[in-house]
Amino acid sequence: MPKPLVCSPDLLARDLSGHSYVVTGANAGIGFETAKQLASQGARVVLACRREEAGRTAAETIREAHPKADLDVRVLDLGDLASVRSFAEGLVTDELALAGLVNNAGVMNTPQGTTADGFETQLGVNHLGHVLLTELLLPALGRGAPSRVVNVASCYHDKAMGREGDVKLDDLMFETRRYDGWEAYAQSKLANVLHAKSLAKHAGDQGITAVSVHPGWVRTDLARHSMPLFVQNWVLRPVLGAMGMIEPFIGAQTSLHALLADDVENGAYYSQTGVYRDKACNAGGWPLTSPNPRAHDDALAEGLWVRSRELVGLA
Ligand SMILES: NC(=O)c1ccc[n+]([C@@H]2O[C@H](COP(=O)([O-])OP(=O)(O)OC[C@H]3O[C@@H](n4cnc5c(N)ncnc54)[C@H](OP(=O)(O)O)[C@@H]3O)[C@@H](O)[C@H]2O)c1
Repeated sequence: MPKPLVCSPDLLARDLSGHSYVVTGANAGIGFETAKQLASQGARVVLACRREEAGRTAAETIREAHPKADLDVRVLDLGDLASVRSFAEGLVTDELALAGLVNNAGVMNTPQGTTADGFETQLGVNHLGHVLLTELLLPALGRGAPSRVVNVASCYHDKAMGREGDVKLDDLMFETRRYDGWEAYAQSKLANVLHAKSLAKHAGDQGITAVSVHPGWVRTDLARHSMPLFVQNWVLRPVLGAMGMIEPFIGAQTSLHALLADDVENGAYYSQTGVYRDKACNAGGWPLTSPNPRAHDDALAEGLWVRSRELVGLA
């Protein structure tokens, strides 16, 4: 089994005082570890959380380890565009300069459902909410340039439990095809990859570098719709660990590398160890060429960019 990739110690010791970051889904899993590491390096971190109480608990936990951590807990529900707008309005002032936005929050293999705006749940939360958020934070990211946008995608943008990742522009919401939770997850994660690629093209001249990442197979609550979490965390924990499941701090390494390394390639895909159709990709790569041809389809990326902007009211 390939060894997980880890950031260079220098990168994780760099002084980030004076730098501000927004991390979505910062109360749990990979987002929590990402926010904690940035705060430990002196950054100001906005914990953008669906549940305020969970965000406050996460902030307290970070402060127990780093009493001087500069944290700001704010409510953000990516399944509700009104919440995304109100988050951005509450945060963005003429002075706010952001060094980075980590579009990390996500859901996986959910039962069929819709967001407050009527979007298929996984596309709505994982992709469309982040599209609007990113757009509303672009002025702040421009002021913080050189700055980074990191979309936390997945190796499942390639193949999720046997379903090949594709974005169906003529049926994004599963209105005319049968709903499948893994197919919808793969679509939303390919959308994360294509969004980063399009953002690199459209916002690159503002000094904003956009990338997508696969964080690895990480022991978090993401699997809640696929198996009881006690099975993952207790019954099968040693077996899953032996099979390559990593802990959340290692799961945060690819996001941290993409945020902090000097030589990050605009629009590229950075992967922790993963499971791909092409086994040569399983060792991951910072960066990695995705084996999914749809991840390199410029017409699909542009089509998704245009349609997503229409859907979230930016067109
Ligand atoms: N774990 C893995 O093996 C793995 C592999 C590949 C990719 N990823 C990606 O990694 C990212 C982080 O996932 P994780 O593994 O750390 O899972 P997690 O522990 O379940 O964390 C997900 C985070 O997203 C938040 N979230 C969910 N719905 C939201 C909404 N509507 N608005 C705002 N926040 C919302 C959750 O908030 P609540 O606590 O309030 O629900 C939580 O903070 C996801 O994008 C996932 O697709 C994970």
